[in-house]
Amino acid sequence: MKRRDFVKACAATAILVHHNPMLLANDRNRSHLHEPVRLVDFEGNPIRPGDLQPHVNYVFRYPYECTPCFLLDLNRPTEANVRLKTENGADYVWRGGVGPKRSIVAYAAICTHRLTHPTEHVNFIAYRQSRNPEADPAANRIVCCMEYSSYDPARGAAVTSGPAPSPLTGILLDYDEEADEIHAVGITSEDILDRFFDHFEMQLELSYGSLAKARAPVSGTATVVPLDEYTGNDMPC
Ligand code: FES
Repeated sequence: MKRRDFVKACAATAILVHHNPMLLANDRNRSHLHEPVRLVDFEGNPIRPGDLQPHVNYVFRYPYECTPCFLLDLNRPTEANVRLKTENGADYVWRGGVGPKRSIVAYAAICTHRLTHPTEHVNFIAYRQSRNPEADPAANRIVCCMEYSSYDPARGAAVTSGPAPSPLTGILLDYDEEADEIHAVGITSEDILDRFFDHFEMQLELSYGSLAKARAPVSGTATVVPLDEYTGNDMPC
């Protein structure tokens, strides 16, 4: 590991452990650290929790240049310390939402079934709010319209229905109360992102010029945009 990368990894570890001493308590809970990045808007201003409209899909790229993530304010406290398992059987603990209401969550926007994800042209996966949640089993879920997998964003994106073999990859967020800023600091597992790179290798090389460029770590800041600005065609189920 280069010295610069080592310093970044140490900084990420310090932030995570400061806020999550449980990470040291149990190997099974170890998360995957990446360079901490500040979430910002188009003009480079930090995203404040109060800037996010509840139940609106926002997208940013993390931890790599080509991996899209959802940012959501669920407008209610989420569960905390939810125990989950990846397809490969690895246990981990999803810590819960951040922000003043502990309602802000982020996940890789990549379905764990067949890796459906938003592109600039079209999108089939998103958080869907229903006006009548009691009559709609998919209400307030992240739903992939390809084969109807759904995930509960208030419980670490655990699978609630459909063929998805594991939860969406969690993006670890850190809320700096004093600065009123949100940082992305890591992910819950590399499994799905590794599958994503393998599966889309050729498309990524064409789009980014090389796989190395597609897989370049996001550095410093990550720009958050509403989903309907990220994609030209958001398809409901
Ligand atoms: S790709 Fe998402 S359910 Fe099949």
